[in-house]
Amino acid sequence: MGEGLRASGVQREHIFVTTKISPSHFAPRDLERAAKDSLMRLRLSEIDLLLLHWPNPQVPLSETLEALCEVKRAGLTRHIGVSNFEVTDIDEAVRHASEPLVCNQIEMNSFVDRPKLTAACRAHHMAVVAYCPIARGEANNDAVLKRIGHAYGKSGAQVSLRWLVQQGISVIPCTSRIERLSENYSIFDFELSEAEMSEISSIARRRSRLATLMSPMRAFALKTLPAPATSVLRIGYRMLRRVMGGTAR
Ligand SMILES: NC(=O)c1ccc[n+]([C@@H]2O[C@H](COP(=O)([O-])OP(=O)(O)OC[C@H]3O[C@@H](n4cnc5c(N)ncnc54)[C@H](OP(=O)(O)O)[C@@H]3O)[C@@H](O)[C@H]2O)c1
Repeated sequence: MGEGLRASGVQREHIFVTTKISPSHFAPRDLERAAKDSLMRLRLSEIDLLLLHWPNPQVPLSETLEALCEVKRAGLTRHIGVSNFEVTDIDEAVRHASEPLVCNQIEMNSFVDRPKLTAACRAHHMAVVAYCPIARGEANNDAVLKRIGHAYGKSGAQVSLRWLVQQGISVIPCTSRIERLSENYSIFDFELSEAEMSEISSIARRRSRLATLMSPMRAFALKTLPAPATSVLRIGYRMLRRVMGGTAR
């Protein structure tokens, strides 16, 4: 990412850099070191937004929050926030934070709605940032989204993004293709009707979440372990997901 930033020639102040602290680095000393390591790898003097990636019940949240706030006060990051925090986690985090927690980054898209969680974030004046906002491309294959989009000359992905931003939610779609970058950005020239918003909300309760705490660990293990071990891991992970559903942690 740091190399990309420098190669792009875009001025630093025109790019908003967010990074996350892994739950395995939530102990205060580890957290500070992890933030410094991120800055060193990015070769930046300051991060724009630093998030706690997932709650970690093994480390008292009060200690983690104190360390996160300290990192902000030391100037390593401009803003701090959380990710994948549920309602009770947010209440507790806000109680312990001596600096504002600006957002909760959570999975939300036209298949996954989180009304109670978004209401809790709003009550604490935290922005909701939706990751996987086009369900990793699946939004483009959905019949309802395609039909709604057709009337506006928009794709299913654009309808999914519009459904989110129209609720005041920030979206961070990811793409490696320049034409999709423009497509994903072109969502501010149309407005979904109330009926369309409700219809999408009704399909949003259909599916389970795509991302789990297992996802980054699994990706790392699949990359580093030898083939027989990865086969066993794949089978185990599939079984776990079947038992626990999409929210398997
Ligand atoms: N906080 C967390 O725990 C967490 C978890 C997961 C993800 N995230 C963050 O959320 C961001 C986005 O999430 P994500 O990448 O998992 O999901 P996403 O943005 O919903 O989907 C990205 C995928 O969809 C494809 N795509 C992009 N635009 C498209 C379009 N217009 N039509 C069809 N397909 C399209 C992309 O492929 P191409 O590259 O081929 O376009 C890519 O494979 C990332 O920055 C990620 O770091 C955070």
